[in-house]
Amino acid sequence: MFGGWRPEALRADTGQDAWLRYAPLETAAKAKYASLPASVVVLGHSPVLRTAQEEMIRGVRGMMAKTLRAEKGVAERAIVLGTLAAMHAAGYSLKAPKLEGDGFWLTTGQIQGIDCLIVASTSDLGVLYGVFALLSKIARDQTFSSLDEVQQPYALIRWVEQWDNLNGTIERGYAGPSIFFENGDVRADLRRVGQYARLLASIGVNGCTINNVNADPRIIDDSFLPQLARIANEFRPWGVRLAVSVDLSSPKVIGGLDSFDPVDPRVIEWWRAKVSKIYQQIPDFGGFVVKADSEGRPGPSSYGRTPADAATVIARALKPHGGLLLYRAFAYDHHLDWRNPKNDRARAAYDIFHPLDGQFDDNVIIQIKYGPIDFQAREPVSPLLGRLERTNEGIELQITQEYTGQQRHLCFLPTMWKEILDFDLHVSGNKTPVKDLVAGKVFHRPTGALVGVANVGLDANWLGHPLAMANLYGFGRLAWDPNLSGEAVAEEWTRLAFGNDPLVVKTITDMQRASWYVYESYTGPLGAQTLTDILGSHYGPGIESSERNGWGQWHRADHDGIGMDRTVATGTGYTGQYPPAIQNRYESVRATPDELLLFFHHVPYTYLLHSGKTVIQHIYDSHYDGAEEAADFVRQWKSLQHHVDEERYAAVLARLEYQAGHAIVWRDAICNWFFRTSGIRDAKGRVDHHPHRIEAETMQLQGYGSIEVHPWENASGGEGIECVTPSGCTATLRFDRPAGWYEIDVQYFDQNNGESKFRVFVGNQQVDEWIANDHFPATKPSGDSSTRRRIPGLALRPGDEIRVQGIPDGEEHAPLDYIEVRASPAER
Ligand code: GCU
Repeated sequence: MFGGWRPEALRADTGQDAWLRYAPLETAAKAKYASLPASVVVLGHSPVLRTAQEEMIRGVRGMMAKTLRAEKGVAERAIVLGTLAAMHAAGYSLKAPKLEGDGFWLTTGQIQGIDCLIVASTSDLGVLYGVFALLSKIARDQTFSSLDEVQQPYALIRWVEQWDNLNGTIERGYAGPSIFFENGDVRADLRRVGQYARLLASIGVNGCTINNVNADPRIIDDSFLPQLARIANEFRPWGVRLAVSVDLSSPKVIGGLDSFDPVDPRVIEWWRAKVSKIYQQIPDFGGFVVKADSEGRPGPSSYGRTPADAATVIARALKPHGGLLLYRAFAYDHHLDWRNPKNDRARAAYDIFHPLDGQFDDNVIIQIKYGPIDFQAREPVSPLLGRLERTNEGIELQITQEYTGQQRHLCFLPTMWKEILDFDLHVSGNKTPVKDLVAGKVFHRPTGALVGVANVGLDANWLGHPLAMANLYGFGRLAWDPNLSGEAVAEEWTRLAFGNDPLVVKTITDMQRASWYVYESYTGPLGAQTLTDILGSHYGPGIESSERNGWGQWHRADHDGIGMDRTVATGTGYTGQYPPAIQNRYESVRATPDELLLFFHHVPYTYLLHSGKTVIQHIYDSHYDGAEEAADFVRQWKSLQHHVDEERYAAVLARLEYQAGHAIVWRDAICNWFFRTSGIRDAKGRVDHHPHRIEAETMQLQGYGSIEVHPWENASGGEGIECVTPSGCTATLRFDRPAGWYEIDVQYFDQNNGESKFRVFVGNQQVDEWIANDHFPATKPSGDSSTRRRIPGLALRPGDEIRVQGIPDGEEHAPLDYIEVRASPAER
């Protein structure tokens, strides 16, 4: 069915242009747009309008190899760009629909008797958004002969946040250093900043906070402001407002005061003067983000004041200039006593902010993470989202995959975001989906916000994994229009990033759509949260890292059962924070949906789910199924060879193969841990039974010695081997199965403090070699560093000697976990 499709240009693609490639159109598609006017008229002079005209020319040139003539007025058929006011002033009579804010209207019509293609808005920025929408249609091969379309942004504030540090690192960033900062200053070369702003504008994002929420006070030091202004200059032509995260103790730390008490008149004056200095240099400055009294950050509690007191002083300084304050609700005590069954971190945001409802000024937005904990792969919707009636609120989503595979694993997050945004909180008995609450539509608030933590870096493709940019794209699209389906977003992105080859569009869209469920299924069950190392990397498995400490991410798994009892009746009372309809659902163990069961209830492993399985069997099955589906991504991707450019084909393939291996690490860690803890066997006999696996420590070792891996479940059998002999060591086994085609999988540990070399021999013949030089977040053998090397297609005979040679480097001692020798797929 797809055989006849041959892309005109499978040109190499670094991913830098992301979804704005404007790749040459297929001949047939080009013919479709042959009647496009030859000139583009822009009415007005602002930098944003100039950008709009230039982008229109750039897009058409890229896709159709035609350069539109730039004009000031309509003298021939033209693409006309302008605000409705400008069109009116130019004497163009149009029957315009109602437009608000930065919404736009794409239409065809006559201007002074000449057929034109019109992009109109009430604002210059809306015109730019309209241009991007038009170009996107062309790139996606859409027909627009009878174009008449109005688009209106759902929420006023659609911002991304970057957690960049002034030294150039990025907290929870997985794609290289900061595009903004380097060695304590703003970078000299800001080209990537302009490119980023262009990407953001193309999806309707209108603000960007550029520094870590754990803010360095220096960001607003007087001496730093000219540097900030340079970034704002890059953002401005794209209508992206610059914002920064500020530290509440700034008046003391950089202001020379002896206090930062928000009600102290000197502090109030300090913020007023500081903000006005910022606006002198950056007149379109967006505002501040504040993280306070959270994870060790200073806050109003130091003076017995409330978040409302703190917000007020800053908001009032911003107000005369049109600035906003995004005050984060992510505030909680991380020294909770885990022994107290009534303690519950999930309660914190509501307990702190709900009593303050109505005490925040109109230019304050309470920025609320989607769930009550912290960006887990699955959480219920934060109850605070439904309970601020007299305060602006916004939702905080996370584009950077902190807890969802760190861009090493494929995880298309719009699928999750859609579930959250569409979730009906039944506030006051009415239909009140989260998207309406955060857009300010339910309680008629002046401002609403969707915020995404993006953390792009200097890597050419911005986020590391070439397919991860769908998350940034999806964030912008859903912030603009949360009524789009996840599938539509995935498909749009695929067409823009990879072209319109039907096989490519279908395959990538399908993979993206499945990927969040797949990731969730091998990293933690039934709402028990991502069972990762919460004290360190937040990457590989770390099942007990959340227990017996004050951080409050507890799942309370023990010999008999698992889950947090958060009911009003017998638990922490958290369910009582939801409106009655939702409270009733989560209070009842039977009414709670399976996927959130363990978030709300502590149940025995033998508890029967709605699916008909016991909890323990679900744990085993979902982790096995998930790992298999991850392996299947490799197969699906391989069907695209020669259909996508080689560069991205290879980069994605490498990540998917890695993911398939790491999914097995996750699967085994979780299944083995629950097997040992519960003592209940897998009904399908898979857990702790690996007939083709040979533990490295049981092989014949020369130079290699055994090591224990902690926690034990992150290595097969709890042990591995390491080599401290500089010239190398070997681990050998004799093959004793029938002759045939096999694959050998070598499970090794790839730390970031050395580049060990591995060679594999069958008899005297070397069949593979590689260097363990990836940069996983690990300096020792662990669930973060455990990596699989697949060597397919080996003809083995009984008696063959299989030998792995490891040569250590630095602190990395060529560590090995096990090998598996499995019949090649066709022979299984
Ligand atoms: C998470 C994340 C931190 C971050 C914090 C926040 O806990 O791991 O790096 O600072 O969220 O959102 O403030």
